[in-house]
Amino acid sequence: MILVTGGAGFIGANFVLDWLALESEPVVNLDALTYAGNLGNLAAAAGNTRHVFVRGDIGDRALVASLLAQHRPRAVVNLAAETHVDRSIVGPVPFIETNVVATCSLLETVKAWWTTLAMAGRSTFRFLHVSTDEVYGSLDATAPPFTETTAYEPNSPYSASKAASDHFVRAYHHTYGLPTLTTNCSNNYGPRQFPEKLIPLTIVNALGGKPLPVYGDGHNVRDWLYVADHCAAIRKVLAQGTPGATYNIGGNAEMKNVDVVRSICTVLSERRPGRDYLQQITFVRDRPGHDRRYAIDATRMRSELGWTPGESFASGIRRTVSWYLDNEDWLAAVMSGAYHDWVSLQYAAIA
Ligand code: NAD
Ligand code: TYD
Repeated sequence: MILVTGGAGFIGANFVLDWLALESEPVVNLDALTYAGNLGNLAAAAGNTRHVFVRGDIGDRALVASLLAQHRPRAVVNLAAETHVDRSIVGPVPFIETNVVATCSLLETVKAWWTTLAMAGRSTFRFLHVSTDEVYGSLDATAPPFTETTAYEPNSPYSASKAASDHFVRAYHHTYGLPTLTTNCSNNYGPRQFPEKLIPLTIVNALGGKPLPVYGDGHNVRDWLYVADHCAAIRKVLAQGTPGATYNIGGNAEMKNVDVVRSICTVLSERRPGRDYLQQITFVRDRPGHDRRYAIDATRMRSELGWTPGESFASGIRRTVSWYLDNEDWLAAVMSGAYHDWVSLQYAAIA
């Protein structure tokens, strides 16, 4: 079996559901259920005996040690993290606590258990750490995309905390021989993403007749990766990746933010006509230290592991908008009091 952390979050839940559908091994899913964790994301796994959900913190050494001893996973896939850049700007400390301190604690607990395994189990075990392209910093318009050897230059408290965790993963491989794998992916989108991130926030606000906030001039560029493609890439790296290696995963879909928002308006005007969604676009104060462009060179994933993304942005955004339109109950459940508190703090001028 495998142990997945953060499996009640956006990517984690998609990963767990796809895993249960496509693989035969059971999953133990460890998640602290922070504001971003949502058991409703795992509704499709209800009653599945191959899925064991445990509420807990990756930094809880006694809990993690007991899960490892009890379930003896052949791999740990670490997705648990604080993930929203704007929240990291308002308050970096939880990012340091989870992404650095608790992640190091997880590494230490896993290493202590791994060293007790027989040689065969030690060599086949994998610790796969899911990270971000944001660790590489910002590109100008003409710079080549990030490769696995691009120097780390994190600019936000979020990306600095992820960079720190990546360095510790690297060190645990180099120093102790722990068979680690690190993936650095671009911006994900798709079903079950919490509506604090650009794409679900835009869909939710558009449907609610609210402003669609675009930071600065809207020309910041991100490379958009459909979440199911990302999950397939993680499975590939887990199955075939070389211990100690890192893998850049991207969607081949660089887009300016304002064009992302416009494309959502276009899909919505077909699916829910009757409102001029484009009129709702509102340019707002820029994010402090806002990285201009991220772009991924995923040559290693293609040439070494035979992975390429299946969705274009045009097809992926249609799937995504459709999912949100078809899952109003999910949306109503996540739009809790805590969500409203964040929106009124972050978007005070236009809320
Ligand atoms: P998310 O915020 O939707 O979910 C994070 C999950 O981790 C939540 O379920 C939360 O409850 C859980 N969690 C947080 N702290 C925890 C702790 N201390 N112990 C146990 N569980 C904890 O995040 P996501 O978008 O699904 O991202 C998953 C991973 O992918 C993260 O490591 C993130 O840095 C990385 N990533 C995300 C993106 C993206 O676009 N979403 C892009 C690149 C990399
Ligand atoms: P986000 O989804 O927060 O992901 P990240 O910051 O990790 O890339 O933001 C994606 C891009 O959209 C980023 O350039 C910031 C921008 N953005 C807006 O313009 N308006 C918003 O309300 C949000 C949340 C993001």
